[in-house]
Amino acid sequence: MINLQNINKKIEDRIIIDNLNLSVKKGEFVVIMGKSGSGKSTLLKLIGGLLKLDSGRIIIDKMEISKFDTNRWADYRLENMGIVFQDFQLLDVFTTYENIIFPSKILKKESNDIIKSKANTYIKMANLVREKNKNIRELSGGEKQRVAFIRAFMNNPKIILADEPTGSLDYKNSQILIDFISKSIKELGQTMIMVTHDSYVAANADKVYFLKDGQIISKLVLDKSSNERLNENIDLVQKELLKITT
Ligand SMILES: Nc1ncnc2c1ncn2[C@@H]1O[C@H](COP(=O)(O)OP(=O)(O)OP(=O)(O)O)[C@@H](O)[C@H]1O
Ligand SMILES: [Mg+2]
Repeated sequence: MINLQNINKKIEDRIIIDNLNLSVKKGEFVVIMGKSGSGKSTLLKLIGGLLKLDSGRIIIDKMEISKFDTNRWADYRLENMGIVFQDFQLLDVFTTYENIIFPSKILKKESNDIIKSKANTYIKMANLVREKNKNIRELSGGEKQRVAFIRAFMNNPKIILADEPTGSLDYKNSQILIDFISKSIKELGQTMIMVTHDSYVAANADKVYFLKDGQIISKLVLDKSSNERLNENIDLVQKELLKITT
């Protein structure tokens, strides 16, 4: 479904993404791991069209979207992608609720009643009921992160790109979001590409790719058939991380 073909990106003459190839199937939950500065956020921004490739191609559903101009990209993103940014990118002048419904109000695909009820369900799920009518500036880091997370799911996107969506969360809230992701992917056939430093979160994915200096240097395919497997997967991820960082 998502095909990255020989993609390259330099920033200020430094190679950040180095001739990278990656294929992600529909319905797959893929995690990208790697040291700070290895190019993970840059890679997600390229897939989401927020940065332009220097060369290579990005093909989604047989469309070469890397050829899109900025406007077409913006339309495509609104309709098909949910993005959770590392720095949240919430609108400071709005409340929690207003931030969450904002993309759906622009897309205008669902009725106001449906948008409202979905937002309220997600707000409850993410433990944000008390924060619903607060201004975004009044929220803690972890609360803002949960707002950014559920906003990305509001338009039922085909693709979710999430940059460390549990980075500021405690174990319980991370667990809630992981359960939500698994359920949403299953029900809607969504495709998820997530960057994380957390091996517990990564252990829930179908595949984990390890990035170093803008290249994928190894890959794990995880078996998620049982709870016992989850613990083994955490071990596998941690061992692989140790290998690539030492
Ligand atoms: N706009 C920019 N200007 C200059 N350098 C940049 C810019 N964006 C990214 N870089 C550099 O590119 C490299 C990769 O950045 P990127 O944000 O993709 O890393 P990352 O793997 O997401 O790291 P982290 O785990 O810390 O979030 C870094 O060395 C960073 O300093
Ligand atoms: Mg990053």
